[in-house]
Amino acid sequence: MPSHATATARPRRFVATGPLIGRIRVPGDKSISHRSIMLGALAVGTTRVTGLLEGEDVLATAAAMRAMGATIERHDSGEWAIEGVGVGGLLQPAGALDMGNSGTSTRLLMGLVASHPITACFTGDASLSKRPMGRVIEPLSQVGAQFTAYPGGRLPLIVTGAAVPVPISYRLPVASAQVKSAVLLAGLNTPGTTTVIEPVPTRDHSERMLRGFGADLSVEIDSDGARVIRLNGPAELRPQVIEVPGDPSSAAFFVVAALLVPGSDLVVENVGLNPTRAALFDVLRLMGGQIVELHRREVGGEPVADLHVRHSALTGIEVDPAVVPSMVDEFPVLFVAAALASGRTVTRGLEELRVKESDRISAMRAALELAGARVTETEDGLIIDGTCGDLLRGANNAPVTTHLDHRIAMSMAVAGLASRGGVEVDDTRPIATSFPVFETLLEQLGAIAGPNA
Ligand code: S3P
Repeated sequence: MPSHATATARPRRFVATGPLIGRIRVPGDKSISHRSIMLGALAVGTTRVTGLLEGEDVLATAAAMRAMGATIERHDSGEWAIEGVGVGGLLQPAGALDMGNSGTSTRLLMGLVASHPITACFTGDASLSKRPMGRVIEPLSQVGAQFTAYPGGRLPLIVTGAAVPVPISYRLPVASAQVKSAVLLAGLNTPGTTTVIEPVPTRDHSERMLRGFGADLSVEIDSDGARVIRLNGPAELRPQVIEVPGDPSSAAFFVVAALLVPGSDLVVENVGLNPTRAALFDVLRLMGGQIVELHRREVGGEPVADLHVRHSALTGIEVDPAVVPSMVDEFPVLFVAAALASGRTVTRGLEELRVKESDRISAMRAALELAGARVTETEDGLIIDGTCGDLLRGANNAPVTTHLDHRIAMSMAVAGLASRGGVEVDDTRPIATSFPVFETLLEQLGAIAGPNA
């Protein structure tokens, strides 16, 4: 059971005790970690994974795959070994699958179950239970799966997979890697060609990893520029050795903190820079951020580099809505960077942020206002008038509300470092879903005082 589902809230005040100087490594990529467990659990033989993110979301995926028959173990070396059941071999889980806070676990696993003749019940925490599942129920019903969901297509939800799954051709109505992946994963145990048409490209880790595991998958660009992904099933997956690169979405908090806290000079090592994920760093450079890529290389079939970041004067910009899918999780922390820039930053096309772990547009508007930033909320984004490099006032009298959202908690921790008075985050427990060592790394860098200081 995820820690934040049980214990009481853990508030913490964030204020900088010094610049961010040194070298750090952030944990493995969350998206890639989920997929390596799922595909490992469907291969015949042992998949070995190093650098796996050991956050609550990924552990929820591992627990669910164990409940459906896979053997998943962590060795003392930190390597994970996953003994798969083979495509078609998922077993009926004995009890409900607790997905905690994790939308990725829920939606991708719904896809896997949809084409296996088993029934699974998905439950989650208060945040996950508000998130829309209709976007996966719709295509997976076409595959032949049956769903009983809470009103509004929410958790708790029961899926009965199709005994005879039907290959579908599905054009994504929303730019979502989770929906794309759910349909492709259903295609693994579906005879024939499952097709996903993606008008706006989203993160492509599923495609890369499915190919790596030996699935017959092709990607073409059609005459309208849409990506057409075809998967021929049923697939036979071969076990792999996977090294998970560092998560750019986690690196983002340290990169922005180093840009904002005067005197900072930081190297974040081993950051995944898949072009479908890395747009934040390009946007920050356009704003004047000094971020230099060192030692570009490939890790686990993904481009990776070390990022050297120095404190920088930032200038507000209009963020091109076309980049939204490749930095969809990074807007909360971009808003913090914008709050200290000179001039105005305008963001648009962020409707999807309203259905993440929280409504990230309104949560960040409220939290940044409390910290002294000048922010205007629009239907699909925020407009932020920056301080020209001055530190924010800080939220002196009231804690900011994180709504069980790890990225709001970490973004506002960064805002605290970039403030005079500090920011109190009402609950830091959700940070463990994606970045359990976030606070420890800040303490090790001397950027914040330890809990006993
Ligand atoms: C993810 C896809 C994105 C992202 C999430 C992880 C994935 O969600 O926000 O954190 O691993 O496929 P959407 O598909 O809802 O955009």
